[in-house]
Amino acid sequence: AAALDGCEASLAVKAKAERIEAERIDVTLPGRSSTSGALHPVQQGLDEMTAIFSQMGFAVAEGPEIENEFHNFDALNIPPEHPARAMHDTFFVKEFAEGEQSEPMLLRTHTSPVQIRAMKRFLEEGHEPPLAVVAPGRVYRCDYDVTHSPMFHQVEVFKVDRDVSMAHLKGVLKHFLSTYFEKEVDIRLRPHYFPFTEPSAEVDIGCVFCAGKGCRICKGSGWIEVLGSGMIHPNVLRSVGIDAEAFSGFAFGLGVERLVMLKKGIPDLRLFFENDVRFLRRMGS
Ligand code: PHE
Repeated sequence: AAALDGCEASLAVKAKAERIEAERIDVTLPGRSSTSGALHPVQQGLDEMTAIFSQMGFAVAEGPEIENEFHNFDALNIPPEHPARAMHDTFFVKEFAEGEQSEPMLLRTHTSPVQIRAMKRFLEEGHEPPLAVVAPGRVYRCDYDVTHSPMFHQVEVFKVDRDVSMAHLKGVLKHFLSTYFEKEVDIRLRPHYFPFTEPSAEVDIGCVFCAGKGCRICKGSGWIEVLGSGMIHPNVLRSVGIDAEAFSGFAFGLGVERLVMLKKGIPDLRLFFENDVRFLRRMGS
């Protein structure tokens, strides 16, 4: 028994010595570095913008990218004969047969249908305004050139309450744009037309490149258009059953790529979609 114990002990010592030898690490070897990825600049922009609005108290909502005509058009006061409905702008997808019924479906052309969906859901849950929502997402238009891509991103923002006015709209815009660009930006509202807002305004910011002096980017005007906005049309509120006499609201929709290009000095929209790693690395965080 003593001999056996002695054997066992010496085997254990030997095994340990072998293990130590096998596990020896040359700490002088250079380490293997790993490359880390980063969020796409468009996703970074979406996250940043959504965060600014949620800090202001807007609730985040999302809607489907494949929409029906009711949410994308009818409920937004866009009648069937409106030019935005022409095939030129809208990608229709094959009719979905859901049970017995089927209806034309399309890729949403803007994030405004989320206004309708969010308001309906809110009312169905038994709430009453105030309601303040930010809705980021992808949108699609049959359009492709230097400044247009068939898929791009928007952030939709709206608020419904008693006595909401253009002044609230302007205040929220000014705060958002100054926070996003990390400096005081001038804004200018120009009268415009959207079927789902009345009055409507396009919003320009003082050129962030030349500080309003006039340059190539702002085409010498000192101003750059960044978004569409307005007071929610009473017909839109009525389409979801909100009393348009008692409540009013503002809404706006901004182009995400546009703002990211301005903030980061990106010269060409197509860089976002070519997935050239040199560009993505440079933009990574
Ligand atoms: N939906 C509009 C567009 O895509 C933008 C917009 C949103 C305008 C909300 C007014 C109010 O062009």
